[in-house]
Amino acid sequence: MEIKKVGVVGCGQMGSGIAEVCARAGYEVVVSEVNEELLKKGLGRIQTSLAKAVERGKISAADRDAAWEKIRGTAHLEDFSACDLIIEAVVENLEEKKKVFSALDKICPAHTILASNTSSLSVTEMAAATSRPDRVLGLHFFNPVPVMPLLEMVRTILTSNEAYQTARNFGETLGKKVILAPDTPGFIVNYLLVPFLLDAIRALEHGLATKEEIDQGIVLGLNHPMGPFTLADFIGLDTVLYIADAMYQEVKDPRFAAPVLLRRMVAAGKLGRKTGEGFYKY
Ligand code: CAA
Repeated sequence: MEIKKVGVVGCGQMGSGIAEVCARAGYEVVVSEVNEELLKKGLGRIQTSLAKAVERGKISAADRDAAWEKIRGTAHLEDFSACDLIIEAVVENLEEKKKVFSALDKICPAHTILASNTSSLSVTEMAAATSRPDRVLGLHFFNPVPVMPLLEMVRTILTSNEAYQTARNFGETLGKKVILAPDTPGFIVNYLLVPFLLDAIRALEHGLATKEEIDQGIVLGLNHPMGPFTLADFIGLDTVLYIADAMYQEVKDPRFAAPVLLRRMVAAGKLGRKTGEGFYKY
């Protein structure tokens, strides 16, 4: 099956990046937000990123214009009715995601593949909210989407071979390296990343070292681009907590138990870069 038109539900940090890379790969893209104001903000984010890609010499001005022309914004899910593949990137909340999947299932033709960008929730549960569980899978992108080369693909026990192969080919046309993960908490990357971030916070709580020293240790000793505190601030501390809680909830593995410091920082509204303060001030 050939993918021509792609839908992206949600134009936040992840959705806008996903819409951008799809348009840059030549697909027609419809991207939605819940209202016009958020849509305008999301589309603005895409324009800024496209401009940055030109500035950095990654694409030409003509490529930027061609990509921008392929993107259409909407505040109505009905506008996804002609999409061959839809990637959901709404808030990380299972009930909200199930509502989106159930609505898309009614709007879209039988051939449409429905994918979720979830980083921690069960794709099988989303599939079960539709009448086409064989055509539902996970396509987990990494932030910043236009820069990070990985696409983690989640295949459930219900995903058909055809849907899997079509989505995998699609991911490769975006220029991403695709890895296959099962529908288990955190898939591959967050199964390892989340305990690492939580352990760093626990180490800080226990007075092992300062956050600056821990970050430097990881950057300079392991060649990571960011230390765990810088990375947690970049992801958003609320998101880190949400993912950890969702993973803990499913398997009760203490590796995923969030430290009190993280919970308190989120309660205090120190969410990282997006609020101007997390472990560091921005
Ligand atoms: N389009 C295309 N390319 C772009 C671009 C854009 N809009 N913006 C920047 N780039 C390119 C730059 O040209 C540069 O490319 P080269 O290396 O070829 O020169 C590269 O991207 C890096 O850009 P910058 O120089 O602006 O930034 P930097 O060197 O400070 O790196 C960073 C920034 C990419 C964020 C880097 O710090 C990094 O990789 N951090 C770790 C990010 C990470 O771990 N992300 C995953 C988070 S976890 C997640 O997303 C999943 C989850 O479920 C929680």
